[in-house]
Amino acid sequence: MTVIVYVSNTGSAKQYAEMLGEKTGYPVFDFANASDVPADAQVIFIGWVMAGTVQGLKEARDLFTIKAVCPVGMMKSEKQDAELKTKNAITEPMFSLLGNFHIDNLSGMYKMMMNMMLKMMKSKLKQDDVPDGQKAVEALEKGVDCVSEEHLGEIMGWLDE
Ligand SMILES: Cc1cc2nc3c(=O)[nH]c(=O)nc-3n(C[C@H](O)[C@H](O)[C@H](O)COP(=O)(O)O)c2cc1C
Repeated sequence: MTVIVYVSNTGSAKQYAEMLGEKTGYPVFDFANASDVPADAQVIFIGWVMAGTVQGLKEARDLFTIKAVCPVGMMKSEKQDAELKTKNAITEPMFSLLGNFHIDNLSGMYKMMMNMMLKMMKSKLKQDDVPDGQKAVEALEKGVDCVSEEHLGEIMGWLDE
């Protein structure tokens, strides 16, 4: 039996899990309720990305058989995909999804981390010509809304194979 398990901080991974659940009919579980997941389940794991780490994936591996991994981040590139695979030891099929980001939706430690990052990026921009640096600063300052059903096309294609 295939199920979807997610870890979300501000809701993007949760939205993707629910959308995928609706499209496939697979049951959806918040990782916080991991004990409700049937023991023989094959899991599609959807987790938000923090500094290159797919949140909850390591813990989920100890409990479930992982069938596919969907990291949800504010960026998507071949470089980040390669780094995600290495850093998180992902050997299963991986489908990166673009999520939302709004600094004001963050709290405590996460907000502090992103404000520090923004400061660093801004000062680096003053010194060097960083490719896409201005775009990244803008995304952090203004926020991005990228959650969209369209991004599930790739994993839906794989599931239909
Ligand atoms: C502290 C912190 C670190 C982050 N690091 C990354 C990162 O390395 N790569 C990335 O693409 N997005 C990164 N993000 C952006 C989140 O992954 C993105 O906003 C995602 O949509 C959050 O998912 P959620 O809404 O389910 O919590 C980071 C966000 C925070 C708060």
